[in-house]
Amino acid sequence: MAFIQVIAVAGALLPGVLAVNNGLARTPQMGWNNWNSLGCDVSESLLLDTAQMLVGSVVLDDCWSDGRGSDGYLKVDMKRFPSGMESVSQNIHDLGLLYGMYSSAGEMTCARYAGSLDWEEQDAKSFASWGVDYLKYDNCYHMGRFGTPLVTFNRYKAMWDALNSTGRPILYSLCNWGEDYSHTWGMSISNSWRVSGDIYDSFTRPDDLCACTDAASPHCIAPGSHCSVISILNRVAPYVDRGQPGGWNDLDMLEVGNGGMTDDEYVAHFSLWAALKSPLLMGNDIRTLSASALTILNNPAVIAINQDPEGRSVSRVRRSFDVAKDKYGVGEMQIWSGPLFGGDQVVLFLNAAGEDLEISSPLEEIFVHDGAEGSAPQCQEKWDVYDLWANRMDNAVAQKLLDAPKDKYESIFKEANWYNSTETSYKEGLKKGDERLMGKKIGSIKPGGSLTAKVKKHSLAMFRLKSTSGSGKRYSLQLFRRSVFRAVSSPSTFITKSRSIQSSTPFALRSRAQAPVTSSVFRRAYANSSDVDSADKEHKSVESAIDAAESAPVYAFGNTESQGRSSAPRSRGFAATAPRIVTPSPGIYIGNLLFDVTDADLAKGFEKFGEIKKAAIATDARGLSKGFGYVDFETQEQAAAAIEAMNETVFEGRRIMVNYVVRGGRPTTQNPPSKTLFIGNLAFEMSDADLNKLFRDIRNVIDVRVAIDRRTGQPRGFAHADFVDVESAVKGLEQLQGKEIYGRALRCDYSVSTRTRGSATS
Ligand SMILES: *[C@@H]1O[C@H](CO)[C@@H](O)[C@H](O)[C@H]1NC(C)=O
Ligand SMILES: *[C@@H]1O[C@H](CO)[C@@H](O)[C@H](O)[C@H]1NC(C)=O
Ligand SMILES: *[C@@H]1O[C@H](CO)[C@@H](O)[C@H](O)[C@H]1NC(C)=O
Ligand SMILES: *[C@@H]1O[C@H](CO)[C@@H](O)[C@H](O)[C@H]1NC(C)=O
Repeated sequence: MAFIQVIAVAGALLPGVLAVNNGLARTPQMGWNNWNSLGCDVSESLLLDTAQMLVGSVVLDDCWSDGRGSDGYLKVDMKRFPSGMESVSQNIHDLGLLYGMYSSAGEMTCARYAGSLDWEEQDAKSFASWGVDYLKYDNCYHMGRFGTPLVTFNRYKAMWDALNSTGRPILYSLCNWGEDYSHTWGMSISNSWRVSGDIYDSFTRPDDLCACTDAASPHCIAPGSHCSVISILNRVAPYVDRGQPGGWNDLDMLEVGNGGMTDDEYVAHFSLWAALKSPLLMGNDIRTLSASALTILNNPAVIAINQDPEGRSVSRVRRSFDVAKDKYGVGEMQIWSGPLFGGDQVVLFLNAAGEDLEISSPLEEIFVHDGAEGSAPQCQEKWDVYDLWANRMDNAVAQKLLDAPKDKYESIFKEANWYNSTETSYKEGLKKGDERLMGKKIGSIKPGGSLTAKVKKHSLAMFRLKSTSGSGKRYSLQLFRRSVFRAVSSPSTFITKSRSIQSSTPFALRSRAQAPVTSSVFRRAYANSSDVDSADKEHKSVESAIDAAESAPVYAFGNTESQGRSSAPRSRGFAATAPRIVTPSPGIYIGNLLFDVTDADLAKGFEKFGEIKKAAIATDARGLSKGFGYVDFETQEQAAAAIEAMNETVFEGRRIMVNYVVRGGRPTTQNPPSKTLFIGNLAFEMSDADLNKLFRDIRNVIDVRVAIDRRTGQPRGFAHADFVDVESAVKGLEQLQGKEIYGRALRCDYSVSTRTRGSATS
């Protein structure tokens, strides 16, 4: 039906899909929005003509209304939409597409039509009654209701609540330009949130209208517009991890095809948006799309990165300014890397300099988030390298598509053997290892080696790395073994003059972005007698919790090894798991599950071994899968058969671990969650450096107090950690509980008493 594959059915309305909030946007939404190219020039025929060429969402931006009626409801501009909004929506649905509309959390929209502020209920009802599936919600004319995160949060939450009470699942896309730190709260009430002022059609050109380029600046109250691709990228870099299934950082619409950038720059723009898991909303006039723009928007190997089931953004592992500047005085080189489905990795070399470069990155840097200083196991594997842009659609095929009537698209697609995401979803395609999603093999990297490529100025190279070592322990590689690419050693299509960049401090960036807890945050609290008492009481409550846990079977929650890619780097002195006692029983533990696997999937996968009494995925506080689960059978024999047959096999694309439920796993907590964690059973030999290491990946810690015996000056074996909020403390506990240091497993609980605060510091 359609040839523009960038638009897959986004946030498909599937019931029962795991979700952060309304069940939508499990992968970033994709579609088309008229604003960038057509502004207010909207009409029924524009939408329907465009819809003919798409699959996914069609989003109508500003300028569609004719004011608010005396009944309090918005009126549709009948000159532009003579058949009415319901009919437009119906026609778009008939084409298999989702329909999106626009309003503003202000008294007026940005083009000064009636806004929805204080009319949220009425307007949400209108949208639902017209069959709208998607709302883009802007920030103009907000009547001064901004300036603190809470004020802005509440203004946007009003529409979220109103949409929710209509009962119609409507993808909610915030367009508040990143004001008031929307990346810190957007996840709670929306499916995506903008992170910057409006994009404009330039790669690097600085512009005074895009005032806020520094993500950390507290003075960023007018994010402006005219933000270049590079300025948006640099702004979002420190918080790319805020996007996850259900809610995404929105880097704004795509400019591809609007004419302000070169083909290379558009390739870089599209690749970055895809790899940072931004929604991909085309902002061009599709009726006049050029063949070259189509070949960028329609690269399934790159879209598959955006729609990857792991749903994790790449993060920046290096940024270097030691390069020639371009005509705007901008000159930088960046390397981005991130995990993909099946244990693959995507790597981007961005050349935003005024000269061609040879860029090289060692595996140690590419996998730095899996372990610092080369400790990631991936550094010891051999990797095949696939160029994700090598199999770009031929311009002639694209032109043929653009010239053809709608009923010819399918045959042109077939003839070109092009990937059709309506037929096979990206997830299915990845599971099957569809070659069209993999790009072209161009070489390999030896264990401990580097990835090197020549990259022209103002362009980008993008690679998919696949392990060939077949260790298969942590990654499900088997799946991709079917790749039978002709071994193509393509001569570099790039470059003339080149230059090498040495990685002198590859990790400097990471530590800046993560704001690690420095040793100054650790306080040695001299416990005086009353403090000691209350701390010992807590210690006892943890002891009793552990006793309780040991007398009843518990599931082996939080086994970081079996969850596959743990974020905690392994390093000397820090074992990932505590020893456990395994006793045969009718209950089994299944680890390293794909996060999308549901209770029902699990039951289905294991029902052949006997009647299942219970199958459950372990979930976190928000109801998201933790990547493991358990199944209870009737008999121990059934459990044994299941372990025998399923351990170390590939299930839904990942190599799972199956074992009996373990006794004496993690201690459970006894106290209700609070902002302060009690951390007991600390080894006495722990140094400040060890503490730093322990807290390196723990976020939002304000203060850590290690109890010191006043008389002896020796540590007392426990500590308290204060967090910004309860949620962070819950996360911290998950990460710390049971972690083994110098042979002792940490025992954590929430602190009940505020009196445990240290009375003195050194
Ligand atoms: C409304 O919110 C509830 C609670 O978050 C959620 O379970 C439900 O799916 C939402 N419904 C819609 C239509 O968004
Ligand atoms: C893609 O697949 C769907 C479902 O099989 C089909 O209806 C559609 O025509 C195909 N589109 C193209 C462009 O081949
Ligand atoms: C010990 O702490 C308690 C309560 O925090 C305080 O009242 C008392 O003065 C402290 N004693 C010493 C010796 O510091
Ligand atoms: C599952 O497989 C792993 C790796 O082969 C092995 O170490 C483990 O003992 C197996 N577990 C059981 C219960 O067979």
